Amino acid sequence: MSTIPHPELERFRTEFPILQTRTYLNSCSLGALSRRSMGYLGEYQALWNTMGASAWYELWMGRIGQLKQSVATMWNAQESEIALSPSVSGALSSIASSIDYTKRNKVVVAELDFPTLVYQWLARPDVEVVRVPSDDGIGIPPERWAQYVDERTALVATSHVFYSTGYIQDLSGAAKAARDNGALFLVDGYQAAGQITVDPRAVDADIYVAGPLKWLLGGPGLAFLYVRQERIAELRPTIASWFGARDQFQFRNDELEFRDDAGRFSMGTPAVPTVYTALGGLEIFAEAGQEKAYERIAALTADLVGLVDEQGWEMKISREPAHRSGIILVRHDDAARAVRQLADRNIIVDHRADYVRVSPHFYNTPDESRMFIEALRQV
Ligand SMILES: Cc1ncc(COP(=O)(O)O)c(C=O)c1O
Repeated sequence: MSTIPHPELERFRTEFPILQTRTYLNSCSLGALSRRSMGYLGEYQALWNTMGASAWYELWMGRIGQLKQSVATMWNAQESEIALSPSVSGALSSIASSIDYTKRNKVVVAELDFPTLVYQWLARPDVEVVRVPSDDGIGIPPERWAQYVDERTALVATSHVFYSTGYIQDLSGAAKAARDNGALFLVDGYQAAGQITVDPRAVDADIYVAGPLKWLLGGPGLAFLYVRQERIAELRPTIASWFGARDQFQFRNDELEFRDDAGRFSMGTPAVPTVYTALGGLEIFAEAGQEKAYERIAALTADLVGLVDEQGWEMKISREPAHRSGIILVRHDDAARAVRQLADRNIIVDHRADYVRVSPHFYNTPDESRMFIEALRQV
């Protein structure tokens, strides 16, 4: 049996009811729901029942601020650099609306990026979208970005971790290409946040987006948007909401002055239930210790890759551990059927095209990986 670091983190397993009844290896789609988040949700419901609308002003707005502060702390940012949006797509739309494409009309993305990241600019007839190709379908070497970015480029936008292969990008090449050409640099960190360190300034991102749904264990309904302080003023959205207005509670509708902070990119009333469940997820992370959680995911991934190799099964994953994260794609002729049959055995994984997709989180164990391998052998 391999040694996975920080076995003490397995104490958090009791926090997650699904882990008591299932082998849950699908955190890259949806992180497990914790008792902590359920407790928070109970508090939210109780306040709604007892206080009605006054819960808004007295408590829910405070929780929204608390969530933004928690994200800021986790990402080594200022609270004023964080906005909440209903989804990553919503956050990206707001950013896409803020860029002037008249002088620079090119946006450079990667062919491995999640569709919603690319759609923001494919939806705009005034923008030329350039997709940086991948040779192996797994990753992109950092030096490649320079070949595609030029003085016509308004924005370089790509993923920190590719959803399709779990590949951790070395973002230095994309960031430098953007800087050298005076373009903005945006990172979609949805598959990164909660499984590797996120520090937008350290990767030289002007904009960084992620959300609580997956590795951060907070459920659907919100996204987190970071905009670097120095960039906020120059990015003036052309889609708007009253949450983005400077004096929101003045209710003026004869003029619009955007907030001076990243809150200008907010898109209306946030999903308060998710604010509560997200707080539960982030709290558990902070208690587990992010670095320990990340080390555990890396070790569980290495262990699982070794097990798949022993079976001689094909994988779509980087062979370099530094580029690997907890998203492991195992080739299967009928991946959809395999995933259904594994679910019948209470093993929850996912599929993408001809691959079974497995994603261990810090709360998983090496035994669960072995159960998965054994079950996949049988189906
Ligand atoms: C990397 C990445 N970006 C964006 C999204 C979609 O985000 P949203 O549904 O919040 O728009 C996903 C969802 O799976 C994703 O994996």
